[in-house]
Amino acid sequence: SSRTMDPSLIKTVNKLQDAFSTVGVQNLIDLPQITVVGSQSSGKSSVLENIVGRDFLPRGTGIVTRRPLVLQLINRQITPKEKGPENEIEEDENGNNKEEWGEFLHLPGQKFYDFNKIREEIVRETEAKTGRNVGISAAPINLRIYSPYVLTLTLVDLPGLTKVPVGDQPRDIEKQIREMLLKYITKPNAIILAVNAANTDLANSDGLKLAREVDPEGLRTIGVLTKVDLMDQGTDVVDILAGRVIPLRLGYVPVINRGQKDIDAKKSIRNALEAEKEFFEQHPSYSSKAQYCGTPYLARKLNMILMHHIRNTLPEIKVRINAALAKYQAELHSLGDTVVGDNANIVLNIITDFCQDFRTILDGRSEELSTLEL
Ligand code: GDP
Ligand code: NA
Ligand code: MG
Repeated sequence: SSRTMDPSLIKTVNKLQDAFSTVGVQNLIDLPQITVVGSQSSGKSSVLENIVGRDFLPRGTGIVTRRPLVLQLINRQITPKEKGPENEIEEDENGNNKEEWGEFLHLPGQKFYDFNKIREEIVRETEAKTGRNVGISAAPINLRIYSPYVLTLTLVDLPGLTKVPVGDQPRDIEKQIREMLLKYITKPNAIILAVNAANTDLANSDGLKLAREVDPEGLRTIGVLTKVDLMDQGTDVVDILAGRVIPLRLGYVPVINRGQKDIDAKKSIRNALEAEKEFFEQHPSYSSKAQYCGTPYLARKLNMILMHHIRNTLPEIKVRINAALAKYQAELHSLGDTVVGDNANIVLNIITDFCQDFRTILDGRSEELSTLEL
């Protein structure tokens, strides 16, 4: 499709992020990321899982997400060799197969094919930094998911906004979480997914309120309306979608995630997506605009916005990369030939690669980026 992300650009961006993390350099280059904010239990984890197409995020009614999770989705094509004789992908009873896996930055080289194990590792790694007493930490967990079923995107799951401390949480938990979220969404290159349950008043949306603090004009905020299926009969989100309630320049996308009953019944995400599609196609309020509803549209919209955003921030990133490149070259020069660290070399190579890709794009050789219109 002409509207999919340029995968080589994203690959380079991901490599660059990892390289800087590895050498302990943070925020040298602010790359665009999609952040997810909203109240506790508004459906943030469900939205992320639906975009990925797999169950893997710890979820529950309490404050489950207690550290930021930087989630890089990387699309990979299945080779014909990987397909079985019936052109079927072999799956175990949990839907796990060898075509999709997760990898954590803190466990390099370890491939997680079992998505339940990914969930366990997120829980383990969360507790390693925050203990078991529902504390929070701003230190992110970095997870990559390689899959043929995802669009290439980077998303950040963040703890939900909460007002009342529970258990051993500090009395200023609300302030602490706000500050953590602000740290991510204030960055001018953060794209904010403001998640709000459709059966609650949009005017009271914590996610939208926070988003408006840092992005008052809504230039980088997308509204996501969850739980459309739980709205009172005779009500709908049509006015919100039409921009008649709280207009957002990038608009709203209504979605339906699995409810608690679906989860208890182990309804698969694939079936849930089917049901979501059917809901919007058959609902009298949405049938005429069903192509603008649901998770697949949200994923496409995200991809498009991310690509647009990267294109618009390329000149600034280029200046910063060139500055970093000059700094590293000067450092390498002053160190002489003998004491050059491997990490510095890796970073230098990646920066050089990146600049190369970058120039290709700026030269207008990437058709997708140069012709994209939102
Ligand atoms: P988070 O705290 O924002 O990450 O929210 P979760 O994704 O954990 O969802 C909280 C609860 O709401 C879970 O029980 C979900 O099953 C339920 N839920 C989320 N989205 C929807 C939806 O669109 N429809 C229905 N019926 N339930 C939903
Ligand atoms: Na929750
Ligand atoms: Mg969550």
